[in-house]
Amino acid sequence: MSQLLSAPPSLGTRPADAGLRARAGRVIPGGLWGHLDAAKLPEGYPQFFARAEGCRLWDADGREFVDFMCSWGPIVLGHRHPAVEEAASRQAALGDCLNGPAPVLVDLAERLVETIPHAAWCLLAKNGTDATTACVTVARAGTGRRKVLVARGAYHGAVPWCSPSVAGVTEEDRAHLIPFDYNDAASLEAAVDRAGPDLAAVIVSAFRHDMGVALELPDPAFARAARAACDAAGAALILDDVRAGFRLHLGGSWETVGVRPDLAAYSKAIANGHALAAVTGTDRFRDAATRVFATGSFWCAAVPMAAALATLAELHRIDGPARMRAAGERLRAGLARLAARHGLVITQSGPPAMPLMQFAEDPAVRLGEAFCAAALRHGAYFHPRHNMFLSCAHGDADIDAALQAADVGFEAVARIV
Ligand SMILES: Cc1ncc(COP(=O)(O)O)c(C=O)c1O
Repeated sequence: MSQLLSAPPSLGTRPADAGLRARAGRVIPGGLWGHLDAAKLPEGYPQFFARAEGCRLWDADGREFVDFMCSWGPIVLGHRHPAVEEAASRQAALGDCLNGPAPVLVDLAERLVETIPHAAWCLLAKNGTDATTACVTVARAGTGRRKVLVARGAYHGAVPWCSPSVAGVTEEDRAHLIPFDYNDAASLEAAVDRAGPDLAAVIVSAFRHDMGVALELPDPAFARAARAACDAAGAALILDDVRAGFRLHLGGSWETVGVRPDLAAYSKAIANGHALAAVTGTDRFRDAATRVFATGSFWCAAVPMAAALATLAELHRIDGPARMRAAGERLRAGLARLAARHGLVITQSGPPAMPLMQFAEDPAVRLGEAFCAAALRHGAYFHPRHNMFLSCAHGDADIDAALQAADVGFEAVARIV
């Protein structure tokens, strides 16, 4: 672990990142679009990265970190996993973007249908937003109805029907959405009543992972109520498993509460960093999925599909979810121990493989930011507001090295409370 902690660079020595940001500011709106904009992170966080390997990440200035964001979810086996990269290279040598799919499409579709219990078919796309949007479209096509129930504060993607920003969005884009509160069966029931006979779908995240608030696992009674409401109304239950899929359970995240959706959206971890998304569905929605026009110039690219097959095989072989849970539990226990030693009160929420740590009485996340900034300087890349991500590459020594950095983070917080 000492290899990580040697000579932490000072905040003032990041010329490569500063130079790239200055150039980006001139040619990229706001310097960077969307959630990866480092301006939203504490002081010292880099915007640009040079490379990554396993659970380690190097910024453009050569600083090394133990990575607890895993590219915000896609890296599930570790960066540049050899079996995945070998499968991707093998397919790349044959062809990637062709006049139609390569045989690997059928191999992967068969594998997904075998792996995910509710799935009778799947279609593949690029991004999570493609998949959630396709689920909504298929649900509407299959039911001939319009209303979709969406949990307040949930993130389902970056197009007008679901974007967290209202810039450029019209009321009509969201005309048929009805809000409810996650894990609140009464509020779901009220929303179902509001939709009446026009209810097409209820869309739920794998767990409640709204930005900046404690994470909440799905209450099994709520999950069963959502299933029952959809069955009673003849609507589709859509599981947005884009963030958690293949990290918590290989058969879909709601296998953990014993509830199966009609349609599900996957992306992020499916191909260990290669661009791919999937929609899976039951036989009831097969005809609707055949009728909607789902496509994209790169949706049949073969390399990410080969990467996905290798990723799934490896996750099965090593029981990836159990490994990530164990790594997350080690991190969680270590953080709890260190916080107590520094006399600090923290809460840790979410599944161990996708944790969030917050300080008590820290509504503006001032303490969380101070913790992260100090830990970063000592080689751990944590996030103060968003759930983090463990990968199968996080070994005990990596977690312990990150805990040494966290110790410095807690020390920084103890000085300012
Ligand atoms: C739960 C959930 N759904 C949908 C999306 C959208 O996925 P993408 O960014 O790949 O379009 C995300 C992305 O973070 C997500 O976390």
